[in-house]
Amino acid sequence: MYLNKISLVNFKNYAQAELTLSPKINCFVGNNGVGKTNLLDAIYYLSFCKSYFYPSDSQNIKHSEKFFVLQGNYSRKEEQEQIYCGMKRGQKKQFKRNKKEYTRLSEHIGLLPLVMVSPNDTVLITGGSEERRKFMDGVISQYDRQYLDTLIRYNRVLQQRNQLLKNFHKNNNFEPAQLEVWTEQLARLGHIVFEKRKEFITKFLPIFNKYYKFISQEHETVGLTYESKLANFQMLDLLAELLPKDRGLQYTSAGTHRDDLQFLLGDYQMRKIGSQGQQKTYLVALKLAQFEFIKTVSGFNPIILMDDIFDKLDENRVLQIITLVASIESNDNKAFGQIFITDKSKNSLTKLLEKSSDDYKVFTVVDGVISEETDSSVLVDENM
Ligand SMILES: Nc1ncnc2c1ncn2[C@@H]1O[C@H](COP(=O)(O)OP(=O)(O)O)[C@@H](O)[C@H]1O
Ligand SMILES: [Mg+2]
Repeated sequence: MYLNKISLVNFKNYAQAELTLSPKINCFVGNNGVGKTNLLDAIYYLSFCKSYFYPSDSQNIKHSEKFFVLQGNYSRKEEQEQIYCGMKRGQKKQFKRNKKEYTRLSEHIGLLPLVMVSPNDTVLITGGSEERRKFMDGVISQYDRQYLDTLIRYNRVLQQRNQLLKNFHKNNNFEPAQLEVWTEQLARLGHIVFEKRKEFITKFLPIFNKYYKFISQEHETVGLTYESKLANFQMLDLLAELLPKDRGLQYTSAGTHRDDLQFLLGDYQMRKIGSQGQQKTYLVALKLAQFEFIKTVSGFNPIILMDDIFDKLDENRVLQIITLVASIESNDNKAFGQIFITDKSKNSLTKLLEKSSDDYKVFTVVDGVISEETDSSVLVDENM
């Protein structure tokens, strides 16, 4: 599956842009603030019906314009797919597949699988546990619909239970039988969530390790463990034991909504002792493992967006990543699909890519204007 063509009108800092892309590697080079990330966001938008960065759709409309339009032509399972998204200020966005508007946007999610590797991913390491649960839940949901349903139900029941604890506190009463209904449901759903997360991490870990080892050339060892109180206790017992405390707190203080992932460098926390480059390596390995998971489930290669990928990584690690995604060594053209890479300069990037027999294109971005480099202009640029 790959994106053949993309067109943008009034999307962020682009007035208009139209590109014909390589089915393999596409590089976008340019200075800070010219629109490289915005272009990747447009591609992300066409897969997920929303921006990776902006929570509100109208923020994506070019300042002082009234609308934006994004269009992508994809080759998918030997068929062409035309995806259209139009958004007018103050109106609901229109999302169409082959000219037919979707009734629900969720029908589109999963059609064009995509993995984004962004500098913002550092929140996975530095942020709170909800970021890591979101990552884990996002990957599992892409292959297990029942998981997502269970999770949604768990969260609803949790809200009900917390509301009841609040009410008891407010009214200064306590009805054990009323709480029991929610406690039992929460424990049952929590057990399913726990089992599925545990199973996921067991399968995910060797894939993650494989990528980390390859990129770092076994320079260091890392770990990834799933942490849940449910590993040692039945959820029902936990809830019973914590009931006096939870009545005081007015919320449920234990359960799978408190699970976390522990990221380790050697025996220590990656967050505390990892260098920026090691943290970045960790994140890239997580995302490539996510790629492999989605690939297995969807049956084709997700698109990979790698934004500012080389920032903070040393040359060896960059080389390893490019070798991997461009399938330079393995000669396995099918291992990875279409890749979009952004970087400040084209020098190191193109040197690496020239070694690969793969098809690649380099685009230069200057203030919302994108132009494709020809081979000769790439070669001339030795001094950047
Ligand atoms: N809705 C918008 N309208 C106009 N410009 C925008 C809009 N949203 C973001 N921008 C501009 O896009 C630029 C950042 O582009 P970005 O793609 O992040 O740059 P980079 O090439 O460094 O990745 C900023 O100058 C910002 O003001
Ligand atoms: Mg950027």
